[in-house]
Amino acid sequence: MIRLLHLTDPHLTRPEAKTFKQRRLKRFLGTQSWQRKRRHIHRSDTLQTVVDAVHSEAADQIVVTGDLVQVGLPEEIREAGVWLTQLGEPSQVRVIPGNHDAYAKDSQAAMIEQWGAYMGVQANFGGSLDEHYPVSWPLNKDGLRVNIIGLSSASPTPVLMASGRLGRDQRARYGRHVREPDVFECVLIHHPPLPRMSGWRKGLHDAKLFGRIVEERAPALVLHGHVHANSSHAQGSATRIFGTASASSAHTLHPASYRTFDISVLENHWMVSMSLKQLDLLSGQMQVIETQSWRLDLQH
Ligand SMILES: [Fe+2]
Ligand SMILES: [Fe+2]
Repeated sequence: MIRLLHLTDPHLTRPEAKTFKQRRLKRFLGTQSWQRKRRHIHRSDTLQTVVDAVHSEAADQIVVTGDLVQVGLPEEIREAGVWLTQLGEPSQVRVIPGNHDAYAKDSQAAMIEQWGAYMGVQANFGGSLDEHYPVSWPLNKDGLRVNIIGLSSASPTPVLMASGRLGRDQRARYGRHVREPDVFECVLIHHPPLPRMSGWRKGLHDAKLFGRIVEERAPALVLHGHVHANSSHAQGSATRIFGTASASSAHTLHPASYRTFDISVLENHWMVSMSLKQLDLLSGQMQVIETQSWRLDLQH
């Protein structure tokens, strides 16, 4: 059995409105938004409860689908790098960026330097992060083969926009990516991947085009963040899409959550068991609130 664990949107830093870089309008407004409301939702004690629970799960691979920070400041990205080392080794933890990480032009170099090992980027990578994706993380255990494919929908957006885009080249590269038989494909993307899963201001602007590739390629799993709520969708007969609430959320409607996926093979089928754990705000404990099990032809 292989166990994947998905958490997302920890928003773990607490930017202060004091640095010169934050005088730029977008960061100024982002910091204001944090001070006004988001800091009451994203709490470090909540995130620590989730991380402690995650460590007890003995996951083979932890995947983090972006928004580790608030306004992409290099000092925030450095702080999140320290948090990642507490979460696990780079070989155990895979990270893709969110729109709050790739917030401004100076965010990218800091991410490569601080999170490169977790993002599968060489420290001396000199190009644009857009050229790096998709990144492929194969996982072999007990004769099972899982391929985690990380995409990046995050790039700096205009003020007040939180949208994402994969872009033509990345979509084409993902579509051409070798799809080996008997390999369980799990795709990571920060924004909800299909049309109508979120509005224009926050949505994936090439969701329609990407949706066609997902339909054709039929990955077994697509995991996303960004909307800070738990959700599940089926796409075609093979693909399940899961969004997970923020790992630091103390929001009464969408408390902190994470998911585990136990993947095994039985008689020419992939067997998958998903368990969603959510913070119970009264007891402060993580509780299973939903499970799903399904099977899939080995060569779907
Ligand atoms: Fe987020
Ligand atoms: Fe986001």
